[in-house]
Amino acid sequence: MNSKEIRQKYLSFFEKRGHAVLPSTSLVPENDPSVLFNTAGMQPLVPYLLGEKHPLGTRLCSIQKCVRTIDLDDVGDNTHATFFEMMGNWSLGDYFKKESINWSFELLTSKEEGFGIDPSRLYVTCFEGDKNAPKDEESAGIWREIFDKHGVKGNRIFFLPAENNWWSAGDNGPCGADTEIFYDISGLHTDGLSHEEYLEADEKQEVVEIWNNVFMEFEKKDGEIIGKLANKNVDTGAGFERFCLVLNGKSNFYDTDIFEEIFAKIDAQHAELNPSTAQLQSPSTLSEKEALRAKRIVADHVRTSVMLISDGVTPSNTDQGYILRRLLRRAVRFADNLGLKKGSLFWIADAVVNTYADIYENVARQRETIKITIDNEEQKFRNTLSHGLKEFDRIVKKDSKSISGKDAFVLFSTYGFPVEMTIEMAGEIGLQVDKDAFEEEMKKHQDLSRSGAGQKFKGGMGDTSDISIKYHTATHLLHQALREVLGTHVSQKGSNITAERLRFDFAHTAKMTDDEKERVEEIVNKRIEEALPVNVVELPIEEAEKTGALHFFGEKYGDKVTLYYIGNTIEEAFSKEFCGGPHVKNTSELGHFKIQKEEAVSAGVRRIKAVLE
Ligand code: GLY
Repeated sequence: MNSKEIRQKYLSFFEKRGHAVLPSTSLVPENDPSVLFNTAGMQPLVPYLLGEKHPLGTRLCSIQKCVRTIDLDDVGDNTHATFFEMMGNWSLGDYFKKESINWSFELLTSKEEGFGIDPSRLYVTCFEGDKNAPKDEESAGIWREIFDKHGVKGNRIFFLPAENNWWSAGDNGPCGADTEIFYDISGLHTDGLSHEEYLEADEKQEVVEIWNNVFMEFEKKDGEIIGKLANKNVDTGAGFERFCLVLNGKSNFYDTDIFEEIFAKIDAQHAELNPSTAQLQSPSTLSEKEALRAKRIVADHVRTSVMLISDGVTPSNTDQGYILRRLLRRAVRFADNLGLKKGSLFWIADAVVNTYADIYENVARQRETIKITIDNEEQKFRNTLSHGLKEFDRIVKKDSKSISGKDAFVLFSTYGFPVEMTIEMAGEIGLQVDKDAFEEEMKKHQDLSRSGAGQKFKGGMGDTSDISIKYHTATHLLHQALREVLGTHVSQKGSNITAERLRFDFAHTAKMTDDEKERVEEIVNKRIEEALPVNVVELPIEEAEKTGALHFFGEKYGDKVTLYYIGNTIEEAFSKEFCGGPHVKNTSELGHFKIQKEEAVSAGVRRIKAVLE
C-alpha cells in the first residue's frame, strides 16, 4: 500500500466513525511564541483538550505536519527525520478507551476497512501505575478481549512505568496514561513474548511503536500534575512515515515510496553523470555508508526546507529562519560531500514539491517561490563557502586541538557558517569548538536576537533557561561519576544541551555495561539527594590548576578563571571544573537523573544521552 492510499484510508476510516477531518495547520504555531514549530499532532488542539469547545465537534482527526530539530546530528540514521507527519484522532470528552482501542485494532488489522496487518505481529504496552494514576487494567482488559476474540496467541500486553506509558507534549498542558501499539517488524515473534523478551525486542528495534493512544485526563504545570481536566479525552498519534515503512514492508522510512522521487533526483544530480556541465565543488570520497547518510541528510533537509518555506519561513539569522538556514547550509555541505552538482538543491526541491503537491495546496502553489528561495540561499552560501573552507583549514592548522570562540564567530559572521556547522566539521576531525567563547562574541555583536533560535535551540550555548542550567550542572556530576566508575582517562570530548536532554561525549574505548551505567546513575542521584551546594570562585590560573579541577588541556585560558565546584568546600568537592556557568545553586534542584542511551561516536569516544525527570 503506498503512502497516498495510507493517508486516505486513515482519514476516511475515522470520518466514517463521526470524526471531522481537520487540515494540517502551519508548521509555525499561531499564537504560541514559546515554541518554534509544531512538534506533535495534538499541539494545535491543546486549547480544546483543556476544555474549550471545538467548532467542529467532539470527534476530530488530522494528519499534522511537524518539525523537530533537536537531534539534527542524528539525521541520516534509520530513525531520525526533521520533518514528519502525525496521524491522529481525538475525542474531546466523547468516546474513551474502549472505542479508541477497538478502532485502532480494527484499522490496523481489518482487510476491508483498514490496513490488513496480521494481528500476530502486534504487541501493546499499558501504564503500570504510580502516585498520579492507578495501573491501567481497563486498557489491558480491552486488549485481552480483542486478542482472545481474534485468536492471537501468547503474551502480548506489557505494563510499563510513566517513562514509557505517560504522555504529554512538554512540561505544561494536558497529559495522561497511554497504551502504545508495537509492530513486530522482524516477523520473528508471532507466538508472544515474555516481559524480558519484549524489552529486548524493543531495544533491538525488532518491534517498533506505530501508534500511541493517550487517555488525557490530567493537566501538568511545570512538570507537576496540578489536577484533572474538565473532560476525559483521547489523543492518539501515529507517525505517518512509520506507518508507511511498516505497510511498505521496509526496515526504514527512507526506503518507502515517500522518498522515491526525491532520491531519484539526488542520484541524477551526481556530477560524474554529466561531467561536461558539472561544476563540481569537490569530488566525493565517501564510503558507501557515508554516502548513504549524506544522501539521506540532503533528502531530509531539503524536504523540511520545502515545507517550512511553504508555511512562510524565509532564511534568516533568527528563530524559524535560522533553523531553515542551518538546514539548507548543512544540505549544501553534504551535497558537496556527495559529489552533487552546484545548484542541485533547486532540482531536489522540485522533487519534494512533486511528492507533496497533491497533499498540500500551499506547496503546489508556491513551487517557484520555494525553489528560488532554496537556490538563492545555496548561492548566497556558495559565495563564501570556498573561502570559508580555506579559513577553516587555516584555523585548524593554527591550533590542532580546538577552535576558539573568536574564530568560530568569524566563520559565522564573515563566511556564513552556522556555528553548529563549525562544531560538526570540527568534530569530524576530532576538534573542540569553544562554544562559550563563541556565545560571548555573539553577545557582543548581538546578531542573534536574544529570544531567537539561538536561545531556543543551541542548548549549552547561551540557552540559559532553567532546564538547560539544570542539565549543565548534571553534566558536571556525570563527568565526575564516569571518572569514578570507568577511570580517570575519561575526559570530556563534547557536550550539547537542549531542553529535553543532555548529551555528553567522552574518551573511553569500551561499550559501558548495564552495571556501569547503573553505578554512574546511582552516584549522580546520590549527589543530588545529598543536596550539595554548587559554588563558584574566580582564581588565578596557577591556583585554579592546583585544585585539580577538570579543564581542557591545551585550551588557552586567561590569567583568571572561573571554577565551579560541587560540594561544601573546594577541597572536599565532588566535582571541580573550569567553566563559565551558569549552574543551579544546589544539586537538590535537579530531580532524578537517568541515562537514556550510551553509544559510540567515533573510535575511542562514547556518547551518553541522559535526562532529568
Ligand atoms: N499525541 C500523542 C503522540 O504524539 O504520540
